[in-house]
Amino acid sequence: GATLCTKIPVPCNAVIAHRGASYQAPESTRPAYLLARDLGADYLELDLQRTRDGKLVAFHDNTLGRNTNVAEVFPERADAPISAFTLAELKQLDAGSWFNAHYPERARDAYAGLEILTLDEVIDIAEGGANHPGLYIETKVPEQFPGIERDLRDKLTARGWLGEGAGAWAPASGEAVKVADGKGRVVLQTFSKASLAALEETMPQVPRVLLLWLGEGGIDAAPSEPQGEHESDADYYARQQVASPAAYQAWLDVAKAHGAIGVGPSTVQHDHDGPFSSQFSYMELAAPWMVSLAHDDGLLVHVYTVDEPADFARYRDNGVDGFFTNRPAALLEFLGRP
Ligand code: G3P
Ligand code: CA
Repeated sequence: GATLCTKIPVPCNAVIAHRGASYQAPESTRPAYLLARDLGADYLELDLQRTRDGKLVAFHDNTLGRNTNVAEVFPERADAPISAFTLAELKQLDAGSWFNAHYPERARDAYAGLEILTLDEVIDIAEGGANHPGLYIETKVPEQFPGIERDLRDKLTARGWLGEGAGAWAPASGEAVKVADGKGRVVLQTFSKASLAALEETMPQVPRVLLLWLGEGGIDAAPSEPQGEHESDADYYARQQVASPAAYQAWLDVAKAHGAIGVGPSTVQHDHDGPFSSQFSYMELAAPWMVSLAHDDGLLVHVYTVDEPADFARYRDNGVDGFFTNRPAALLEFLGRP
């Protein structure tokens, strides 16, 4: 990792603020992204989806129930996907009050009534302060949004984040490239092989990362027999760590075949605080041998989603090149970056 990351136009020990500083403020909202920017995170991470009227928004879940008041405002569509709502409808929702209810110790009055953000608004935030973070953009459930990669390209181009003078990256050059400041510092990420291919086709010059998970549709878990309903978490995780080198390598091969700069594997977490992470975030896909396999293939490793100092240390020792984190303040402190 230490050498590799100097040859690829992303920072070493990249601090990727997962849905913004989403430990401190409601995920993917203005204060979460403002905090991450002003702390000095390298990237603002966002999950890209598209409204019924074709607007790009930053929102993680496929539905609105977990972290908005959709059930009050649109009870008949409480379980509908994002694509069933216009932007004007999404803007009526309160995407902050859930956080105050869930985390009273971190609640703030100002979080009540926060809006879902468009990609344009996240770009405004990235451009708007003294620090100029990049954007680390995931095409979320891309099979539901045909052509979203083109929409993203068009938006980034219109905003001056792609193309000449915007830090375009030529993957074939093999030369060290200076990390662009601010505009142009985009990384694209996806769990989907099809979307990775579409990103390669539409934005070949922009760094891409293939996200990895263990389980159905992802890397074969090849687990031993379940040990019954009383199996401990520790036993479960240990059992899941038997992803074979061949199964892991097969996904690295996909990343390489599409010119990705790296992979984004899930991690085992020691301490979860809140409903940020999916079940997949508990799977070990960044063990030392896995990181080595990736590096041997010239692929960076950016792990998701790591929030605790013990985990920062463990995955740094495993050799990873960057971290998705809900707690950029804690990671920056750990890295000794004021
Ligand atoms: O994008 C990296 C990480 O965010 C993937 O998991 O579910 O939080 O989008 P998720
Ligand atoms: Ca994501």
